[in-house]
Amino acid sequence: MQRTLSIVKPDGVQKNLIGEVISRFEKKGLRIKALKMLHVTKEQAKKFYIVHKEKPFYDDLTNFLSEGPIVVMVIEGEDAIAKVRETMGATNPKEAAPGTIRADFATDIERNIVHGSDSPESAAYEIPFFFSAVEIMD
Ligand code: RTP
Ligand code: MG
Repeated sequence: MQRTLSIVKPDGVQKNLIGEVISRFEKKGLRIKALKMLHVTKEQAKKFYIVHKEKPFYDDLTNFLSEGPIVVMVIEGEDAIAKVRETMGATNPKEAAPGTIRADFATDIERNIVHGSDSPESAAYEIPFFFSAVEIMD
């Protein structure tokens, strides 16, 4: 069993895709173990995406993540990290496989609807960033 963090990004919430995203994860046999909606500040977005601080898109990315409400969730299952990433599709929706969330709904490489932890190390940083132990269901 593995846990990962996923986010319905501000464009996904704005496009009314919260249920669609959660449903796609559930249909893969993954389980939602924690869930909430919040609106992060620019400073919080910068801290969350700190691994990208040297990237040219860091400022745009953190403006985007803080532009409106997001839905954050802890997802659990066998190979949850890989399964969530498969369900999301490639970062650039033009390269995302047909039937993935990003292929179906994303506008461009920046406004791509959904986030998923990319490794166990990332998940270990990202899950406690948003959830305390008592907020995650056993
Ligand atoms: P995420 O972290 O959000 O799940 O996305 P990812 O792993 O597929 O992509 P990553 O390389 O971690 O990039 C994080 C987010 O930054 C934006 N981005 N913009 N303009 C660009 O070239 C560019 N590249 C990435 C996207 O919102 C991407 O999801
Ligand atoms: Mg990433």
